[in-house]
Amino acid sequence: MNGSQMADEGRDFDRVAHWENVYSTKKTTEVSWFEAEPTTSLDLIDRFLPQGGHIIDVGGGASFLVDRLVAKGSWDVTILDIASSAMEHARKRLGENAWKVHWICDDITKTTQLAKYDFWHDRAVFHFLTNSDDRQAYLSRLNESLVIGGYFVVATFAPDGPEKCSGLPVCRYSFDQLENVLGRGFKLVSNAQFGHVTPTGKTQQFTLAVFQKIES
Ligand SMILES: C[S@@+](CC[C@H](N)C(=O)[O-])C[C@H]1O[C@@H](n2cnc3c(N)ncnc32)[C@H](O)[C@@H]1O
Repeated sequence: MNGSQMADEGRDFDRVAHWENVYSTKKTTEVSWFEAEPTTSLDLIDRFLPQGGHIIDVGGGASFLVDRLVAKGSWDVTILDIASSAMEHARKRLGENAWKVHWICDDITKTTQLAKYDFWHDRAVFHFLTNSDDRQAYLSRLNESLVIGGYFVVATFAPDGPEKCSGLPVCRYSFDQLENVLGRGFKLVSNAQFGHVTPTGKTQQFTLAVFQKIES
């Protein structure tokens, strides 16, 4: 993350309107972050979250992760997203099983609706927080809501990843940079760099890190 990557979204940026517009105008299979099977995330959840554990997918959007989590039926699942239209896609797919999920429509930097979680999953959301107040607001919610011993799984664009996503500037991170941002309350337990292939065939480099919360 360097100075040029810290470009702000802009003072007048309307985050809700931006994301509602994305999910109302694009097919969920056409957005650049679409993945047909969230295999990596599911493997990590299986590995680190005991049966009955509470998981939140922050900025879950219309991802198929919720479908797979509900199908497994092993955990208490919360999806949070700023765009109601995104979660509506997921709710429709789940049909009569949608009640099994706690849905929170809110901005993660502002929400007061969080409970306690054993696992906090974030795929391509934290990297949109390009100003430090928003990052601090996110991290204080993470700290308040994740139990000690719980896991934080985060996937952001890597230093050699794109500078923008969905037309918005992002911060790109290495493992070390994520570790620094989180501070000493979190221990890095697993990491990987991977290439995500978008629906248009472009490869985007991601940093994926698993942290365990060891102290408040
Ligand atoms: C790049 S998409 C990733 C969606 C999903 N995690 C996935 O992997 O398919 C980013 C998501 O974060 C949501 N989002 C962006 N900023 C947010 C915020 N401040 N609070 C909550 N959700 C946010 C967007 O609506 C969108 O669904």
